Amino acid sequence: MILLDGKKIAKDIKGEIAIKVTQLKATGGKTPHLAAILVGDDGASETYVSAKVKACEKVGFKSTLIRLKDNVSEQELVKEIHKVNNTLDIDGLIVQLPLPNHIDEMRITEAILPSKDVDGFHPTNIGRMILNLPTYLPATPAGILELLKRYNVETSGKNCVVIGRSHIVGFPISILMGRNNNPGNCTVTLTHSRTQNLNEITKTADILIVALGKAEFVTSEMVKEGVCIVDVGITRIESDKTKSGWKLLGDVAFDSVKDRCSFITPVPGGVGPMTIAMLLKNTLMSAKRAVY
Ligand code: GUN
Repeated sequence: MILLDGKKIAKDIKGEIAIKVTQLKATGGKTPHLAAILVGDDGASETYVSAKVKACEKVGFKSTLIRLKDNVSEQELVKEIHKVNNTLDIDGLIVQLPLPNHIDEMRITEAILPSKDVDGFHPTNIGRMILNLPTYLPATPAGILELLKRYNVETSGKNCVVIGRSHIVGFPISILMGRNNNPGNCTVTLTHSRTQNLNEITKTADILIVALGKAEFVTSEMVKEGVCIVDVGITRIESDKTKSGWKLLGDVAFDSVKDRCSFITPVPGGVGPMTIAMLLKNTLMSAKRAVY
């Protein structure tokens, strides 16, 4: 069994990006600049956004963090987005999700200029992804592709089963794994809460991508020998064995399945770190006007 070490690969990618930023600046190019909007004070969102801002600093990007109160109106939030859309120096804009219930996430996503949508969530960019046109790929699915690529996991002609159909992970990765690309060219089955006989389907998977958000959902009876497992889940549970008082669990019962796997991502240190690396990659692409 080979661990798909996202922590190491993400570090390599950030190193590659830092070199490109130095080259860009040396040749008179602009410093890539990411703006993030954080609404409210949700602990997990706060952690994710500060990790993104810190990663920007590390690779030599500029970053701007815009904090808004959780009672901000949808109209005010859209106004802030328009301001960033019109700020020439800013290359990429993300609005951290989830948003408070009174705000329509899709309306907010649509307010972001597709050319600055480095999360790749705008309908225009999703459409471009489906059609295999140059675009910003959503960061977590892009991180999965990059991991498979860097570990030379064969995908062509393989059966790929995805569990979960979220707009951020399950749905886009199901499209990407089926595109005529490398990685890609899989026969893809997208499964979800209404799927019947899930275990029979998961047992057909050469590559199993799990993104449903239920701790340790996948166990050894659900997978075949030699499977490659990508675990996107991160559930925080209390633990008296760690200093912090909590630990992170994936959607896959790692110890149960690991001896049946050819490859598997650990949690933490698998897909998670790749997400930020891919966001930086998209922001660099935007600064270089590589898409729009
Ligand atoms: N919330 C969870 N994942 C993401 C992400 O990739 N981007 C944004 N903007 N919000 C998120």
